[in-house]
Amino acid sequence: MADILQIRRPASGTEAELAITEATIRATELRQFDISGEPLATFDPGFMNTAVCHSAITYIDGDAGVLEYRGYPIAELAEHSTYLEVAYLLLNGELPNAAQLTQWEQQVTEHRTLPDKLKTVLAGFPYDAHPMTILMASVAAFYSFYPDARNFDDPEARDLNITRLIAKMPTLAAFAYRKAKARPYVNPDDSYGYCHNFLAMLFKQAERRYVADPRLIRAMEVLFILHADHEQNCSTNAVRSVASSGNDLYTCASAGIGALHGPLHGGANEAVLKMLREIRTVDRVPEFIEGVKAGKVRMMGFGHRVYKNYDPRAKIIKKSVEDVFEVTGVNPLLEVAKELERYGLEDEYFVKRRLYPNVDFYSGLIYEALGFPPEMFTVLFAIPRTSGWAAQYQEFITDPEQKIARPKQIYTGSRTRSYVPMEERD
Ligand code: CMC
Repeated sequence: MADILQIRRPASGTEAELAITEATIRATELRQFDISGEPLATFDPGFMNTAVCHSAITYIDGDAGVLEYRGYPIAELAEHSTYLEVAYLLLNGELPNAAQLTQWEQQVTEHRTLPDKLKTVLAGFPYDAHPMTILMASVAAFYSFYPDARNFDDPEARDLNITRLIAKMPTLAAFAYRKAKARPYVNPDDSYGYCHNFLAMLFKQAERRYVADPRLIRAMEVLFILHADHEQNCSTNAVRSVASSGNDLYTCASAGIGALHGPLHGGANEAVLKMLREIRTVDRVPEFIEGVKAGKVRMMGFGHRVYKNYDPRAKIIKKSVEDVFEVTGVNPLLEVAKELERYGLEDEYFVKRRLYPNVDFYSGLIYEALGFPPEMFTVLFAIPRTSGWAAQYQEFITDPEQKIARPKQIYTGSRTRSYVPMEERD
């Protein structure tokens, strides 16, 4: 028997049967109810209960704390794979074989360099410009260097621009970092892998060859894997929404970077570190918690729209924290973070609202230990999320169900008024 939802409106005596497929009803079917001349619609600020696409990329079960990319559990990918392998998986749906991975790594390596003229764009920013602003503007500027990105219906052009963007993000991020430090740029080194090269472009000084500790390279790989995609979050929704009007990948990714920058999304990792620094010592945690419960501040790095259980990414990051601290020495703020987490897991306020540590809770501590200033933290989120945005962009572009994004509103303003000449206004 077909699964249906029966809806009856006693006020008008109307009723309808809506088909339930994939645990959803089609919102447009509600239009058959006429409410005083208006077709019935749903009101859903923040998309609390609205699916906007079919997607085969990332699966999340927020109650069970499950995250899978293309069906592979995040913990297995974090343990066994590299970031570029995961990027390939997100984009192509399957893990690469050895030859495919080598070819993909070579393609990415080939495209790491920034267009020369982009350096002029970078030079125009003030030295204290937030690196996320530099990233957002520069990624948007890529379109002027690679206008073939508008040929997104051509798979070859699409693939090329996806590769370019994934390849250039670390270079751009490293240049933004070095610009703020007034240090000369370090060009990509083709003999290094993706993460090692990134660390070299950031931290190389006068030494002939920069060699990073393999444990730090691995920590970077793991962090990049964990941040690569997260289904229909705020920035991915921005990417898809901007794509819906027929935009190139760079314009869409730039919108994604803007959305990610907010402290409720990717900007939370920066906010967590600021919070930990403000709290400073373990004995000040109870006072901070009282402030959270009184609604004065939020506990950054806690809570999630989808996870009502421990964020599986946070579990893995917590383990990476220990690995990194083995190399760099322990950050004293770790004790403050652990104490906050203890409260968060025991205190009724958090338990009742099902607030758990999310991906951003511990990542800032690792980034700080690696030598990054807080304003770089969200940049470190944006680099790997680029592969997720690209995969979601590709899925969107090839999805015949999709249309230009155009939500409805409930109008609450004035109606049809006569223009008032200036001299007659109050
Ligand atoms: N600290 C204190 N209270 C919180 C927090 C928090 N971090 N998060 C949610 N709440 C409370 C909130 O006040 C509300 O309480 P009440 O029902 O009494 O009004 C209840 O929990 C539900 O919160 P909400 O804001 O309606 O939930 P949401 O799903 O709209 O927001 C969130 C999700 C992630 C924006 C929110 O939990 C938050 O602001 N967390 C802190 C910022 C953060 O860590 N963001 C990173 C998210 S993970 C990285 C990513 O993917 O972007």
